[in-house]
Amino acid sequence: MTRAQIIGVGAYAPKRILTNEDLERMVETSSDWIVQRTGIRERHVVDENEATSDLAIKAAQQALERAEVEPGEIDLIVVGTTTGDMAFPTTANIVQHQLGCRNAGSMDVYAACSGSIYSLSIGSQYVASGKYQTVLCIGAESLSRITDYTDRGTCILLADAAGAAVLRATEGVSGIIDTDLYSDGRYGELLIQPAGGSRHPATHETVDKGMHYCKMKGNEVFKVAVRMFGDCAESPHHRGRGEAAQAPHGARDRERGPLRQHGGGLGLRSPRGSVDERAARDGGPRAHGGLRRRFHVGRGADALVGT
Ligand SMILES: CC(C)(COP(=O)(O)OP(=O)(O)OC[C@H]1O[C@@H](n2cnc3c(N)ncnc32)[C@H](O)[C@@H]1OP(=O)(O)O)[C@@H](O)C(=O)NCCC(=O)NCCS
Repeated sequence: MTRAQIIGVGAYAPKRILTNEDLERMVETSSDWIVQRTGIRERHVVDENEATSDLAIKAAQQALERAEVEPGEIDLIVVGTTTGDMAFPTTANIVQHQLGCRNAGSMDVYAACSGSIYSLSIGSQYVASGKYQTVLCIGAESLSRITDYTDRGTCILLADAAGAAVLRATEGVSGIIDTDLYSDGRYGELLIQPAGGSRHPATHETVDKGMHYCKMKGNEVFKVAVRMFGDCAESPHHRGRGEAAQAPHGARDRERGPLRQHGGGLGLRSPRGSVDERAARDGGPRAHGGLRRRFHVGRGADALVGT
């Protein structure tokens, strides 16, 4: 049976750092409040000359180097992002050109915080089906570009970075066993960027009303996320598989207690946060950086990664 094995991972966070103390000067908040609620002390943000593809390319270069794969060997590039450089060309297309992956198809996947997981899932299906041999999966965001730095509910969380994984077909036992994707549009209003698409194209009015910023009902997102992770962990798909570890991709200190309860059916043994919580907080490194450290990529451990 053909599986997709992760043979190299990379990550990149921009140099500029925004600390909790910086945010204290911008909105009514305190570092203690932020740390207690989120575990975050500082976040990385792009400077005025950087865009999402720049982060994606650096992460991808590191992943290719570690995998000892040449750009020309890549058959497909999948980039999970909601803050691409522009509507089109896609960010994946820009990455393809800049890396010199001359034999690769490319696509962007819009799945917000779940972008890394979606890109891995899609990439692994192409490999497992036998269609492609080597696939580059990336999660990359420049969320600071759509962050309202007068909104203390979002600016404490959002930031910028990229993570990348090179997948290769293997007939061996190690590799991505399975991925399940879930979505529930009933909750779409809880986390939304209202303008910039065909519903509300950019106008002076949309800009004046701040409709291009990310809006979030954080407390409700928190509850839905914890409940859904538990449902996913307890689903018949995952029960009894005996995964070596589980990595809830967005889990922070505060979410781990509820996750242990809701994920009980699976025996959530190690629901640790999947990123160094001092580092950037976005859809990319949380998944890929966590995979690298926790599951010793290339050594064949089984894992369940939730989002
Ligand atoms: C965002 C989040 C940290 C907020 O924590 P919370 O405990 O739910 O906070 P609440 O929104 O219930 O607000 C509690 C109180 O803190 C206040 N508050 C909100 N943000 C604050 C801030 N940055 N600093 C200080 N106080 C703040 C609120 O106004 C509220 O005050 P009140 O009780 O006087 O009305 C938390 O809900 C969370 O992590 N949500 C999930 C977010 C997520 O994963 N999103 C997806 C990807 S980014």
